[in-house]
Amino acid sequence: MNKITIAIDGYSSTGKSTVAKQLAKHLGYIYVDTGAMYRAVTFYAMQNELINVDDFNKEALIYQLPQIKISFKFNESLGFAEVYLNDVNVEKKVRSLEVSSFVSKIASVSEVRRKLVEQQQVLGKDKGVVMDGRDIGTVVFTDAKLKLFMTASAEKRAVRRYDELIELGDHVTYNAVLKNVKERDHIDTTRKDSPLVKAEDAIIIDNSNLTLVEQFDKIAQLAKMIIEGVE
Ligand code: DC
Repeated sequence: MNKITIAIDGYSSTGKSTVAKQLAKHLGYIYVDTGAMYRAVTFYAMQNELINVDDFNKEALIYQLPQIKISFKFNESLGFAEVYLNDVNVEKKVRSLEVSSFVSKIASVSEVRRKLVEQQQVLGKDKGVVMDGRDIGTVVFTDAKLKLFMTASAEKRAVRRYDELIELGDHVTYNAVLKNVKERDHIDTTRKDSPLVKAEDAIIIDNSNLTLVEQFDKIAQLAKMIIEGVE
């Protein structure tokens, strides 16, 4: 059976990674969480004191980019690949609100984007990949056979993110999470390099009122149709 590339883009906390993981498992494809890569670079900047309150040392980060190695290792018990920074598992650490608060700024640095996009293209070169992010259908794989653009109201997304963070043991308020969601939307859609926009040929999935099962069924059906069509 022919393998295709599936690009899932959209706003933060729209459940891109949940559906991408489900779909990859269902199809026997590789799943690549590109947000985790930007988060890992942000975590590196935090650890190396390149971030100071709400500013960061862009020149030093660019200079140190060659020594930032991001990789993924499949975790059998979780059923997906976890992100590693210089061979250390940082999967949980990169999900903190602290990293979330800064990641959009780091992701707007063109040199960071260039490095990560190159790596993403290598990871997906053999097709059979589900990749989620902000620029997968518009920059990384413009020829992806299935492109989805996920959206939901900011309030719905903040509730989901808040629940996730509380479960991870983070002490946050709903209002702080909602503020972060809106700030990230703003930075992601207005940055100069590869802003978040819907690819012309992407299908919009608004999951404000869809259950996870409904959403998965809809997307799995779309993927099936396209995969059968390219046989
Ligand atoms: O999907 P996420 O919330 O884990 O992504 C974290 C941040 O990284 C998000 O604010 C935007 C950025 N990002 C990006 O610019 N391009 C991508 N392909 C993936 C994420």
